[in-house]
Amino acid sequence: MKVSIIGGGGLVGSCAAYALQCGAIVREIALIDVNQDLAAGHALDLLHGGPSVADQVITSGSYEQIPDSDVVCITAGLRRKPDESRLDLINRNVDLFVAILDQIQQVGLKKDAIVHVVSNPVDILTYLAAVRLGLPHTRVIGLGTQLDTIRFRSLIAQQLRLPPTQVEALILGEHGDSMVPIWSSATVGGLPLDKWPGWGPSHANGLFERTRGSGAEVIKRKGGAGFAVGIAIRDVIHCIALNQHRVLPVSTVQDGAFDIRNIALSVPTIVGRAGVVDRVTLDLWPKEVQGLRRSGTALRQTWETVAKRLGI
Ligand code: 2OP
Repeated sequence: MKVSIIGGGGLVGSCAAYALQCGAIVREIALIDVNQDLAAGHALDLLHGGPSVADQVITSGSYEQIPDSDVVCITAGLRRKPDESRLDLINRNVDLFVAILDQIQQVGLKKDAIVHVVSNPVDILTYLAAVRLGLPHTRVIGLGTQLDTIRFRSLIAQQLRLPPTQVEALILGEHGDSMVPIWSSATVGGLPLDKWPGWGPSHANGLFERTRGSGAEVIKRKGGAGFAVGIAIRDVIHCIALNQHRVLPVSTVQDGAFDIRNIALSVPTIVGRAGVVDRVTLDLWPKEVQGLRRSGTALRQTWETVAKRLGI
């Protein structure tokens, strides 16, 4: 499988490329960036490590890499300022993102290619990509709250001194201020988190607030996320590449799950080579479903502004 990363010269795109290289599943990684020299530098640096990892093709270039790509990952975009919300970022990123979509359309996509949107605000840009490219909505997948979910799991594990891989706890909804913690299904090693020795409701709010603020915290400390978002992107792309049908909290255009429609946000989604295979609308707690719907409302208000501005 070939993956092209638009924005591959940036922190997020290059970390995604490194995660995919170390994951050794995809066959080819192409880095595309407006700063072609930077993309070429990252590609060369990755290439040098290849003999100790896997037999992959690692290249850089421009949009000529797109037509034979199985996954087109879009990470390009301006980064938030520490006190800026992802939705505030929209006005600065929409024009850049539309230009990228138009260049993709000009060169064309493979008939079964998947577009994986990472640029922020990811939910709005996922919907914009689906609409502007005219693709089946099942073939446009935003990173959504996959990153928030692994952050959430990591912080719970750190708090309780547990193996992070055995902590399961979902974040759904908007990859942004209205994201929703799903405590109803949180487990440790398959056992209910809220029964775990040392766990108390007082932990819950602090852990969720730190998760929700993690993007801004990382931006403040180091300028922007790279490693964890690269791993989150790898999780999604490997699920597509291996047709794993895993349930992932990724952002897709909703058509009725939890009674949410015509906006992109994250619900439990079965992901495979075809993109969105299905969605799982199991019975969350009522306040969790209400939170999801609040996310939908918040995103719809922004979407309507963007759609009006673009004349969609
Ligand atoms: C974050 O939360 C980049 O939106 C991403 O760090």
